[in-house]
Amino acid sequence: MIEREPVGVPGLDELIQGGLPKGSTCLVSGSPGTGKSIFCLQFLYHGAKEYGQRVMYISFEQPVRDLYEQASLMGMDFESLEKNGLARFIFFDITQRRLPKGETYHSMIRKEIESFKPERFVLDSLSPLADFPISVNELAEYGLLDELDKVMGGPLSENIMIRMQVHKLILMLKEFNMTSIVTSQTPRDSPMFSSDGVSEFLSDAVITLHYLGMAGSKRTLRIEKMRNTKHYDDFVSMDITSRGIVVSKPEENLTQSKLF
Ligand SMILES: Nc1ncnc2c1ncn2[C@@H]1O[C@H](COP(=O)(O)OP(=O)(O)OP(=O)(O)O)[C@@H](O)[C@H]1O
Ligand SMILES: [Mg+2]
Repeated sequence: MIEREPVGVPGLDELIQGGLPKGSTCLVSGSPGTGKSIFCLQFLYHGAKEYGQRVMYISFEQPVRDLYEQASLMGMDFESLEKNGLARFIFFDITQRRLPKGETYHSMIRKEIESFKPERFVLDSLSPLADFPISVNELAEYGLLDELDKVMGGPLSENIMIRMQVHKLILMLKEFNMTSIVTSQTPRDSPMFSSDGVSEFLSDAVITLHYLGMAGSKRTLRIEKMRNTKHYDDFVSMDITSRGIVVSKPEENLTQSKLF
């Protein structure tokens, strides 16, 4: 029996057998404004509020103050959780391009996780991190330089370096006893599940968020994959409300055929 971590987004957990598999890594992707950060905030808030779990949010996009404000507008009080030692939010400002000597984003994320020991973890988003191709030193440290040399027999392309960066990060998250969500931005109407092109393969689960920009239900969500889970596999309508994301019930006739 697989243990589950209920996400806490109303309407979603019943489509995924009760929640994300404990210890798994889920990619949440979508174009700007589709609700990725709100989804992450709800996931963390649910864990801390309902189960007293320690939760960590590493942001590469928005300062912590912005995130707290966004959350509080939706009824989530992370400041109190932080005061009680249950929540830790960190903003890495990638525009500064200054890291302490000898540190990488990987080493800094690892340190934060090791010291706080979260049970739920969010990295929002992978996209700027993937823009920092992995250095040759890091590759060597990762033990993959010789391996890649054999396969490639030539200089490493930037694309491969980006893949290694994301690969290394997702493998690292798996080392810890926590359930994680990583986000990735995709252009509107893109058929891609992530900006890096690999995180969808490496993650245990992929959920995409869509904004259709037309009358009627404008937003949808789709569970593209979830290892070890019988999940609903069609688009479902969702809304962003003053209480966060709410997923609508799939129509009854679809439920029979799609929720296999
Ligand atoms: N109170 C609200 N009621 C309805 N919709 C809201 C409300 N607050 C925010 N939204 C919607 O949520 C969107 C922002 O969601 P969020 O920040 O989670 O998106 P995102 O996918 O993380 O975007 P980005 O890629 O830019 O980081 C807004 O663009 C708006 O459409
Ligand atoms: Mg966001």
